[in-house]
Amino acid sequence: MIKQAIIPLAGLGTRLLPLTSVFAKELLPINGKPAIEYIIEECIEAGIKEIIFIISKKKEIIKNYFHNDKFYKDIISKKKDARIIKEYRKILRYKKMIKFVYQDKPLGTGDAVLKTKKFIKDKFFLMLLPDDLIIKKNCSRSMIKVHKKFKGSVMASLKVNKKTVSRWGIYGIKKNINKNNFIIKSVVEKPNIKQAPSNKAVIGRYILPISIFKKLKNLKPNKGGEIHITDAIQLLINDNVKFIGHNFLGKYLDCGTMNGYIKSSMEISKL
Ligand code: G1P
Repeated sequence: MIKQAIIPLAGLGTRLLPLTSVFAKELLPINGKPAIEYIIEECIEAGIKEIIFIISKKKEIIKNYFHNDKFYKDIISKKKDARIIKEYRKILRYKKMIKFVYQDKPLGTGDAVLKTKKFIKDKFFLMLLPDDLIIKKNCSRSMIKVHKKFKGSVMASLKVNKKTVSRWGIYGIKKNINKNNFIIKSVVEKPNIKQAPSNKAVIGRYILPISIFKKLKNLKPNKGGEIHITDAIQLLINDNVKFIGHNFLGKYLDCGTMNGYIKSSMEISKL
């Protein structure tokens, strides 16, 4: 069973400046709700019991958001507002299931994952990148089903325009398992058009094995001076560890860019 999820939240959010100059992008509202709450809801619906937030000193506002129960209590004692009471209970519930670890230098997703090593209890865990919202169908839940059926690691995949491959991690495909799943041959972080093995991109949902930590420990920074999770995954694939690409059915919203962030509120308001 997959019971733990990790969420890297130490990123600076430069693509969303100026909104992120004093604020955490994950708390920016999308249709009236902080982006991170959509991600937490996806986890809970998928059966996750504990979520590890990887934050930095600069992003402590995220911790404060979930540790704000005294503020709520004071308001509620003066004013018995049903909506606020509901929000308070929700925050309390989230607070109970979230643990915080720190990544003080922005050294990449791989480095963020490594910081959670001593907290992971089972053989596999889920990772969600908070910029990537997937609506209409719970991607994590579908991936957990795929993991159980095919006994391997699983990553979300989306066909993208060939011209945009250098924005993503891109998969090389070994063979199709069925319409929605394939065995991954390779994964390259942000290749140029010529190097890209396909137009299937990595989207931020990963079911990873604990053996990833060993690979991450010895990994050197790569593209952009960061330690990439994709590089550690490639090392595991080289050792014949099974990684499955899952063509998810939900709708993808790229909230990490200004255009995508603006569009996401409109898309969610239509639901
Ligand atoms: C990260 C990953 C990349 C993936 C993307 C999905 O990139 O490194 O492999 O395709 O998320 O959103 P970032 O968005 O942090 O540049």
